[in-house]
Amino acid sequence: HRRLRVALLGAGAVGSQVAALLRKHGDELADRAGASLELVGIAVRDLDAPRETDLPKELFTTDAEQLILGADIVIELMGGIEPAKTYVLQAINSGADVVTANKALLATHGPEIFDAADQVGAQVYYEAAAAGAIPIIRPLRDSLAGDRIRRIMGIVNGTTNYILDRMDTEGADFGEVLADAQRLGYAEADPTADVEGYDAAQKAAILASLAFHTTVPLDAVHREGITAIDKAMIDSARHAGYVIKLLAVCERLTDDPQESISVRVYPALISREHPLASVHGANNAVFVEAEAAGNLMFYGAGAGGVQTASAVLGDVVSAARRHVAGGVGVGESTLANLPVVPVGRV
Ligand code: NDP
Ligand code: HSE
Repeated sequence: HRRLRVALLGAGAVGSQVAALLRKHGDELADRAGASLELVGIAVRDLDAPRETDLPKELFTTDAEQLILGADIVIELMGGIEPAKTYVLQAINSGADVVTANKALLATHGPEIFDAADQVGAQVYYEAAAAGAIPIIRPLRDSLAGDRIRRIMGIVNGTTNYILDRMDTEGADFGEVLADAQRLGYAEADPTADVEGYDAAQKAAILASLAFHTTVPLDAVHREGITAIDKAMIDSARHAGYVIKLLAVCERLTDDPQESISVRVYPALISREHPLASVHGANNAVFVEAEAAGNLMFYGAGAGGVQTASAVLGDVVSAARRHVAGGVGVGESTLANLPVVPVGRV
């Protein structure tokens, strides 16, 4: 096997699981990728912080820049805009392919990052950036590329679904279940991103950009979170036959999506008969309505370290295969150079 050097930035909820799985299943992944995947180092902030998985101390460094140099594949799982953006651009400019789960970064600086990758022939993979373990980026970008998508609707944030679900089924307290979501590794480093709907809005912008072959700027996404939802509202909804869910809806408003689309995130009343009402815990579900394919539904773990690690490692295998094929691979960076479409609001 050819040997590929893999650098990991971040060893938190997701990164620690990616490192552990890469080491545990390395031989199997090498056979699938056609190249051995050597984890050459893990960049973190605090070398002494406790880690979820048992990893050799000598892999850890606080010098991300040094680690990136010479890597073939850089996995960015730090989160946030900076220094993640600087490191991702450094990785691209040093010739590496990038795998990231960072929807905050892609929803705000996606076009710049994909442009940079296009210029040097690198690729950016981001299956884990929307709906955790659920394959939804590739289906939208590749499998449905021959169809016309009318609408995407779903639950794309695990933390808020977990909170609303436990408030509904157990009468649990908002603050306590949020703390549980943080302990379980579902929440963002700053959980305001989850509960105020920013995380869902970032994912909606990414999904809508792919579905409608455009660039949806984050500030064009209508966003409401769940902090105003209290127990009394949840109880009234239940008595009326509804459940409250944080929904993301992306739809084209005209026949031609290049004319006008609407992207919005808000808490909605869902009939208890509707399939979305059965999405419990940190699961997510995404409905896609396409002209020819009809209605498709994607369901599964929307958050969680090991679950998300599955999507990240799938991207690592894709990146490795592309390296083995000599850089001739499927174009991943379809958010680059696309027109920005006026986004309407309903
Ligand atoms: P965590 O906050 O658990 O982990 C972040 C890691 O990055 C930590 O190891 C931290 O180091 C390291 N880090 C942060 N800043 C720096 C820095 N400046 N220099 C070096 N290392 C740094 O995040 P998650 O694992 O939960 O999330 C990672 C990414 O994956 C995010 O973009 C998130 O949005 C995304 N994601 C998360 C999911 C989840 O379920 N958690 C699901 C899907 C996507 P240290 O440990 O030393 O503090
Ligand atoms: N904080 C995010 C969520 C992680 O709860 O959905 C997955 O993107």
